[in-house]
Amino acid sequence: MSLELPNENLIRDLPPGTHLGCSVRADKAHADGRQQKTILLTGASRGIGHATAKLFSDAGWRIISCARQPFDGERCPWEAGHEDHLQMDLSDHRMLPRAIAEIRERLAGAPLHALVNNAGVSPKTPTGDRMTSLTTSTETWMRVFHLNLVAPILLAQGLFDELRAASGSIVNVTSIAGSRVHPFAGSAYATSKAALASLTRELAHDYAPYGIRVNAIAPGEIKTDMLSPDTEARLVPSIPLRRVGTPDEVAKVIFFLCSDAASYVTGAEVPINGGQHL
Ligand SMILES: NC(=O)c1ccc[n+]([C@@H]2O[C@H](COP(=O)([O-])OP(=O)(O)OC[C@H]3O[C@@H](n4cnc5c(N)ncnc54)[C@H](OP(=O)(O)O)[C@@H]3O)[C@@H](O)[C@H]2O)c1
Repeated sequence: MSLELPNENLIRDLPPGTHLGCSVRADKAHADGRQQKTILLTGASRGIGHATAKLFSDAGWRIISCARQPFDGERCPWEAGHEDHLQMDLSDHRMLPRAIAEIRERLAGAPLHALVNNAGVSPKTPTGDRMTSLTTSTETWMRVFHLNLVAPILLAQGLFDELRAASGSIVNVTSIAGSRVHPFAGSAYATSKAALASLTRELAHDYAPYGIRVNAIAPGEIKTDMLSPDTEARLVPSIPLRRVGTPDEVAKVIFFLCSDAASYVTGAEVPINGGQHL
C-alpha cells in the first residue's frame, strides 16, 4: 500500500543523495508532467495543522493556509507560504464568501485535491475548567459553532467545483469529545464536534456521486496548545497506550485519507487516541 509519502512517489527517481527540498519535489512532479496537488488547510500555524502542512509540503503538495495570525516564514518553511496564506477569522461567517473568493483567485482555475477543516476552538473557564451546558454564554455557543461547524460547511459548499475537478477529498477534524462527556472539553465544543461528525456523513453521501470523498478524524489527547495542563496526570493513566499523541501522528492519518491509498474510504471517522475510546 503506497501512501505517497515522501521518498515514495514524487521523488522515486531522484539520484541518491539529492537534497529533498519542497521545490525539488515540486519541480520533479512538473518535469514528469504530473500535476502538483493542492491542499487548503485551515489552522496551519501551529499544532495538528502545522504538522499536517509540513507533511504535505514534504510530499510536494502546494499548501494554501488560513488562520487569524499572519504567516510566520521561520516556523512554516513551505513553498509560497506567504502568498498562499489567508489571514482571517473563520468564526465570522460573513467573511467566508470573501475567503472562498480569495482561495479561488489563488487557485486560478487549478483543481483542489484536499480540503482539511482543522481550525477549531475549545473555550475553557479562566481557571481552565470545562464550560458546561449551564454556564456557557450565547456568545460562546455562537463563536464555537461558527468556527467548528459553519466554516467547514461553507468551505465545502463554496469549493465544490474545485474539489470535483480534482476528484478530491475533504477531511474534517472532529474529537473524541464529540461522542462522550470529556473532563476538560466544554458542552459547546463537544456538541459542535458531534455535529461535524454528522456533517461528515451527510457530505460523504451528497458528494460521493461527484467523486469527492469526505472523512473525519477524531483525535483524543494530542500534545498541542489546546491540551489541558492536567491531561498527563488525570487522563494518561486511563489511555491504553499510556501517553498522549503527537501532531505528527495525526498528520499521517490525514495524509492517508487524502491519498489514493484511501480511494474507497468515505464517510468514515477515524479515532486517533491511543485506545482512549475502548
Ligand atoms: N489537541 C488535541 O488534543 C485535540 C483533540 C481533539 C480534537 N482536536 C482538534 O484538532 C484541531 C486542531 O487542534 P490543535 O490542538 O492543533 O489546536 P491549536 O494548536 O490551538 O491550533 C488551532 C489552529 O486553528 C487556528 N484558528 C483558531 N481559531 C481560528 C479562527 N477563528 N479563524 C481561523 N483560524 C483559527 C489557529 O491559528 P490562529 O490562532 O492564527 O488563528 C491554529 O492554527 C481542532 O479542530 C481541535 O478541535 C484537537
